[in-house]
Amino acid sequence: MGTGVEQVPGLTTTKAPFIEGARSRGDLFITQPYEKYSEENHQSWRNLYARMLDRWERYANHRFLEGLDSLGLNGERVPRLEEVNGFLAPLTGFKAKPVSGYVPAYLFFDCLGRREFPTTITIRDVATPDYLPEPDIFHDIAGHVPMHTDPAFAETLVRFGQVAAGAVERLVDQDDTTELRERVASNMRAMARFFWFTIEFGLMRDGSDGGGDGLRVYGSGLLSSYGEIQHSVESEAVQRYPFQLEWIVNQGFRIDRYQPLLFVVDSFDHLFDEVNRLEDWMKEGRLDNVAPGEPTISEEEIDISLAAAREEG
Ligand SMILES: [Fe+2]
Repeated sequence: MGTGVEQVPGLTTTKAPFIEGARSRGDLFITQPYEKYSEENHQSWRNLYARMLDRWERYANHRFLEGLDSLGLNGERVPRLEEVNGFLAPLTGFKAKPVSGYVPAYLFFDCLGRREFPTTITIRDVATPDYLPEPDIFHDIAGHVPMHTDPAFAETLVRFGQVAAGAVERLVDQDDTTELRERVASNMRAMARFFWFTIEFGLMRDGSDGGGDGLRVYGSGLLSSYGEIQHSVESEAVQRYPFQLEWIVNQGFRIDRYQPLLFVVDSFDHLFDEVNRLEDWMKEGRLDNVAPGEPTISEEEIDISLAAAREEG
């Protein structure tokens, strides 16, 4: 964005000068400059929210539906994070924390462990409601945050954050050798896969009268996708299996398509137990050599994680 280029107003994903400025200064944690949202941004929220309502009613976990109510979310305007947090904090202590972009894995996990949820404040372009080059405020606030109102889910997420950050902290005192870096990358891959197949794309058995064979969605990647929420429950192209930890930590995934493979938990208590098992495995070194593949953990990501974990320690 050189000088003389017409300024694009608003807080549109990949087109927000405010965000570019924050990134160029290296500011990861920022504020939500609410007055910068354009009418088009609010229209984008309105469109996204309105078309999800029926789908949420039909496919979402009922704790999610209750969460929408208790947060006072509505389909009219992009939400103010301060207002959302005013409702959320008394329920579970969680807080949405505005960020300028990608949060390195260790820092992200560490935030979860402290009941802070890194939250994107930009919103996708009104013209492309389905195309999502990166997370936006609709995914983060409408997809994730309603789940954070549920105490059992919130405890599971906190626990996961502590375990995932702990996986790096367990290794920081060792000499920085190639072997160590491979172990760190392996643990981070395992944690990212666990997060992906649960918090982002998890399905839950529903004892009651739910649609689609008694399955309900609790994963936020599904809860914020008009097309995939239905596909995840209804499509015969999706393979759905009972949650299986040894499979999940070794299973790669692609972020650029509907998920062909999903895992089903019985309840949030069940998921909490699995996080405890994940911790046991991590401490026993069973995550030090998980299958290679997606997601790729860059050398830079390993450097940032090791440095941050050393600081923490
Ligand atoms: Fe997400």
